[in-house]
Amino acid sequence: MKHAKDAILRSEQANYLEALEPPRDELLRALEESARERGLPISDPEVCSFLATVARSTEARRIVELGTNIGYGAIVLARAAGPLAHVITVEKDEALAAEARRNVAAAGLEERIEVRAGDAVAFLESHNEPVDLAYVDCVKEDYPTYLKRLVPMLVSGGVLIADNVLWRGLVAAETVPDSERAKVEALRTFNHDLVNHPKLRAVVLPLGDGVAFATKLGSPSMLPPAPVTLPPR
Ligand SMILES: C[S@@+](CC[C@H](N)C(=O)[O-])C[C@H]1O[C@@H](n2cnc3c(N)ncnc32)[C@H](O)[C@@H]1O
Repeated sequence: MKHAKDAILRSEQANYLEALEPPRDELLRALEESARERGLPISDPEVCSFLATVARSTEARRIVELGTNIGYGAIVLARAAGPLAHVITVEKDEALAAEARRNVAAAGLEERIEVRAGDAVAFLESHNEPVDLAYVDCVKEDYPTYLKRLVPMLVSGGVLIADNVLWRGLVAAETVPDSERAKVEALRTFNHDLVNHPKLRAVVLPLGDGVAFATKLGSPSMLPPAPVTLPPR
C-alpha cells in the first residue's frame, strides 16, 4: 500500500528502504504493476521481504493468510517457506480469489497454495488445524477477533504477523477522522492485546504501514523471566 509509505518513516528513509529491496522476478513485478495501476492493496515489497525472511527462518509448513487480494503475499510466503509448506489464503471477493488462483498457477504453486473464497472470521471459526505462521492482512475492524481465534491455533514457537497496524500513524494520533475511527480503535485494541498477551512475545515494527510480529510462547526457556527481587542498596 504505497500511499502509506511516508506516513511512518520520513520520505527519504522510505525511499531508501524501497530502493534497497532486491529486484523481484517477472511475475511479482507484473503483480506489483497490476496492483499499482488498479489501486489494489497488495503488501509492500519490504513487508514481503520480512514475511519471506520469517517464513524461511522458521521453516513454517502450515501457513494461513487472511486477505489474499491477487495472491502476491501468498506466493511470496509459499516460495520462501519451501517445498514442504502449504498456504491457505482467504479472500472474500470471489473475482479476486479467482484472479489469485490464476496467479498462483502462473507461479506453479497450485499444489501448495489453496485460495479459499469466503470471510476470514468464518474461516477461522471452522479451521481446526495447527498453524505455524499466520499473516493477517484483512479487515482492520476484525483484527482483535483474528487475534483471539488465531492464538489457540498457533503451535509453540509459531508466528503471527499482521500488516497495517500503525494505519498511517493514525493509531498514535490524537485526532482521528470519523471515517477511520472504527479501524483505528480496533487496531489500538489489537496492538495492546498482542503485546500484552500472556501466551505471546510480540513487537510492533515501524516497517511499511506498521507490522506486528509475535511468537507463541511454549517451552519454559521462551517464557518471560520470573520477576527478580533486587537486594536493597
Ligand atoms: C490488503 S489486501 C491483502 C493483500 C495480500 N495479503 C498481499 O499480501 O498481497 C486485503 C484483502 O482482504 C479482502 N477482504 C476484505 N474483507 C474480507 C473478509 N471479510 N474476509 C476475507 N477477505 C476479505 C479484500 O478483498 C482484500 O483483497
